Amino acid sequence: MKALVLAGGSGTRLRPITHTSAKQLVPVANKPVLFYGLEAIAEAGIHDVGIVVGETHAEIEAAVGDGSRFGLRVTYLRQEAPLGLAHAVLIARDYLGEDDFVMYLGDNFIVGGISDLVSSFEQDRPTARIMLTRVADPAQFGVAELDRNGRVVGLEEKPEVPKSDLALVGVFLFTAAAHEAVVELKPSWRGELEITDALQWLIDEGHRVEATVISGYWKDTGNVTDMLEANRLVLESVESRLDGEVDAASDLIGRVVVEEGASVTRSRIVGPVIVGAGTRVSNSYVGPFTSIGANCAIIDSEVEYSIILPKASISGARRIEASLIGHYAEVTPAPDTPKAHRLVLGDHSKVQISS
Ligand code: TTP
Repeated sequence: MKALVLAGGSGTRLRPITHTSAKQLVPVANKPVLFYGLEAIAEAGIHDVGIVVGETHAEIEAAVGDGSRFGLRVTYLRQEAPLGLAHAVLIARDYLGEDDFVMYLGDNFIVGGISDLVSSFEQDRPTARIMLTRVADPAQFGVAELDRNGRVVGLEEKPEVPKSDLALVGVFLFTAAAHEAVVELKPSWRGELEITDALQWLIDEGHRVEATVISGYWKDTGNVTDMLEANRLVLESVESRLDGEVDAASDLIGRVVVEEGASVTRSRIVGPVIVGAGTRVSNSYVGPFTSIGANCAIIDSEVEYSIILPKASISGARRIEASLIGHYAEVTPAPDTPKAHRLVLGDHSKVQISS
């Protein structure tokens, strides 16, 4: 069994962060979301991983390297444009050969790993096995329709009128028969080769496509809200650790990690919170479910339920909440007069101003 990890794509929903970096490398509890997937793959006993990369290939390759750190042998597969999940399978044909494979979307976050899924697939070997989860808003997802025996009878990508509330999770298991399907596909209305169409083709050709409905936690971290939720979930189980400096005038409440070289002075931190290596928190409040990356500065500010990427600085800001702040971003207060916001925002930035 091999793994095919999709780490290309355009990441439009996470702009402007994705103008300058790959969305799969946005950190959840200060670790790139992609690494959680690679760890789950290694834990399932898979060694050979093809990572599909696009424009951001250099950054992904620099972060993951040859994969040996994860116990994996990584091969990079270049996709010339984000032409769809099934297109990624198409370009991986030679790499995958006749092996079964697990396809894993590099921006998906699944709690509980994939070991059970992989071993049950290896025993049973249907042509494909998909993962489903119940969602409140199925029209936003690939949606599956099951018969009374739990077998998949139909699939649709982002349907206007969903036939069920069962959404596709970003992990799929296939035998090599998947390759017969992807060569038959035509681009959908959004110009992509859809994995839902590949699965539908297999069903129509009489192949066995099975589904497992998972009850565990899953998030597609493609948008900020889900990213913050995944961050909250990982921080829920973080253990306190103090490798940096905390002065006597500061209060650390609950589970707080202060990495090496970080300093906390005259501040109150209510965990779970991670303060990255070399970061300075001074005269500030940091509230629950906040991950602050390495070498940031949080000065005279309040921040809560947020992800702050390395080298960002926030000073004199009350209060920042539910925010994703990029590398080297600077947040500073405006002078009192005139009462106006002065903004230098990258393309596609989103700012909510309280006034
Ligand atoms: P999506 O989130 O469906 O697509 P996207 O990255 O284009 O994002 P957005 O909708 O915000 O524009 O992709 C799921 C995962 O698969 C993600 O890790 C990117 C990856 N991917 C590829 O590697 N190749 C592709 O052709 C596509 C569409 C996605």
